[in-house]
Amino acid sequence: MKNIGILTSGGDSPGMNSAINGILNVAYLNNFVVYGIYNGYKGLFENNIKKIFNNNLFNFNNLGGTYLGSSRFEKFKKKTIRLKAINNLKKNNINSLIIIGGNGSYIGSKYLVQEGISCINLPGTIDNDVVCTDYSIGYFTALETIVESIDRIRDTAFSHQSIFIIEVMGRKCGDLTIASAIAGKCEFLIIPGIKFNIDNLINEIKNKISKGINNAIIIITENICNIKKFSEYIKKKINKEIRTIILGHVQRGGKPISYDRILGYRMGTYAINLLIKGHKNVCVGIKNNKFIYNDILKLI
Ligand code: F6P
Repeated sequence: MKNIGILTSGGDSPGMNSAINGILNVAYLNNFVVYGIYNGYKGLFENNIKKIFNNNLFNFNNLGGTYLGSSRFEKFKKKTIRLKAINNLKKNNINSLIIIGGNGSYIGSKYLVQEGISCINLPGTIDNDVVCTDYSIGYFTALETIVESIDRIRDTAFSHQSIFIIEVMGRKCGDLTIASAIAGKCEFLIIPGIKFNIDNLINEIKNKISKGINNAIIIITENICNIKKFSEYIKKKINKEIRTIILGHVQRGGKPISYDRILGYRMGTYAINLLIKGHKNVCVGIKNNKFIYNDILKLI
């Protein structure tokens, strides 16, 4: 009997359910017994593990979030906690894990691999900051949500001749910011890793105003500065109101767009097919439109 466990971990991302679905479809065709590990590594530690039966094959494809639940579980860094989790795997006779998540999930998986558990990782995060892949599951849906929000804010910015600062997620990665700035035609963008000069920005804004352009959108990645204080500083210099919006978790939820459903599903089937062929301890990704895998211990 081949027993596998699936878990989703870290921030949920739209398309995770499609990935689970892809894994399940191939797993059942190949007579695997599949266990759902609920709420990520926390569920592994708490033995929140239940068989997913064939006839329960769900149709969650069109829903955001993750059917299996997720968590951020810092305690998993502790060996004693992991030993209990590994013991739970042994109790359920689970030989292999498929883990869908972001960087934190990959680190968790690396620990498990080093402790003798075989793992395959799939990149699931809106941040698009995971190694070994051009795109992570959920990134394009979040991008769509951000661009839609920019479009809406633009209507008000134009009508009221105002300047908006919009903060978007991405943790330390500017991918969502850059792509949404292009798609939403934002006037200014601020991203991690590229120094910006606030006085230059102010001069640019003044320059635009002098040319009669009196609405603008400044888009900025989270964790760079306090945008409220930032806006107050600019406001004093240009003598014009600036409004701030932190988009927050609306970016993470919602129905996955088709691309993320297909990406998730295909990555899921690719991952379990690797397992069937005897591969283990790899993370999968998409590069130049081809699915690829890499040794997790070499990358993380
Ligand atoms: O990793 C996804 C993400 O949404 C990041 O963009 C953000 O920094 C973080 O998670 C927020 O995490 P939490 O929901 O745990 O506060």
